[in-house]
Amino acid sequence: MKKTTRLKQLIISPSLEFLMEAHNGLSAAIVEETGFKGIWASGLSMSASMGVRDNNEASWTQILDNLEFMSDATAIPILLDGDTGYGNFNNARRLVKKLEQRGIAGVCIEDKLFPKTNSFIDGEAQPLASIDEFTGKIKAMKDTQADDDFVVVARVEALIAGWDMQEALRRAEAYRLAGADAILMHSKKSDCTEIETFMKEWGVSAVIWANHNLRASVAAMQLISKRIFQEESLVGAEGTVAKLDEIFRLQKAEELQRAEKIYLPTARLAEGGHR
Ligand code: SPV
Ligand code: MG
Repeated sequence: MKKTTRLKQLIISPSLEFLMEAHNGLSAAIVEETGFKGIWASGLSMSASMGVRDNNEASWTQILDNLEFMSDATAIPILLDGDTGYGNFNNARRLVKKLEQRGIAGVCIEDKLFPKTNSFIDGEAQPLASIDEFTGKIKAMKDTQADDDFVVVARVEALIAGWDMQEALRRAEAYRLAGADAILMHSKKSDCTEIETFMKEWGVSAVIWANHNLRASVAAMQLISKRIFQEESLVGAEGTVAKLDEIFRLQKAEELQRAEKIYLPTARLAEGGHR
């Protein structure tokens, strides 16, 4: 089954499904083998893993290149956190075209302004896109997709930006009417009261665990760097990190060894003499 179809089914299936964050080929492969049915390519995580801020400092083609590694490394569908679509309707529809070419199953866009600001960062209230502008963007994206099952998710940032549930619901309905395949309702409350209110109106078909692989890797790397720095030795650290064999397994090194047996000339070393 196509990755787009799989993602679409995940979203419309009556059972609750989960997407797990990944930010590069390796973390995507780990998410897949753990058993998750879909990947959230988090903008925060991808930008952080590149050492830049979640403010569209990484260009959209750099994001595309990263996604290509993630898609090549996995068979499960990837939903890209496409921020605002990297510009207006025209940038967003071109993004859809390029994502389809690279085997990405869907994209989520949020109703903020380019360049975006992470929803959890402290600071000024974040301005929202107008409903008209955002619905035009959704329509342009849906009109552009070549594969009917490519998924466009519209993310409502009204609650993040300090608006009330009424505004969030008004936007969700407008985005649905514009053709969005799903609504992502975002809240920054540490309890689930807002989301529960939303669920009374809409229900929930999928949950996104948005950033824990990045945060886990940061904690692990900080710990190991500190230990090796302090001990000036690898002896104590060795038993606490993944074995090299595990890295080779995740890279599918064996597949190359098998392929070499088939495709490389066997008498290569003995040949010589063709000078
Ligand atoms: C991301 O992971 O980049 C998201 C989710 O957009 S959040 O950071 O929670 O806004
Ligand atoms: Mg994001």
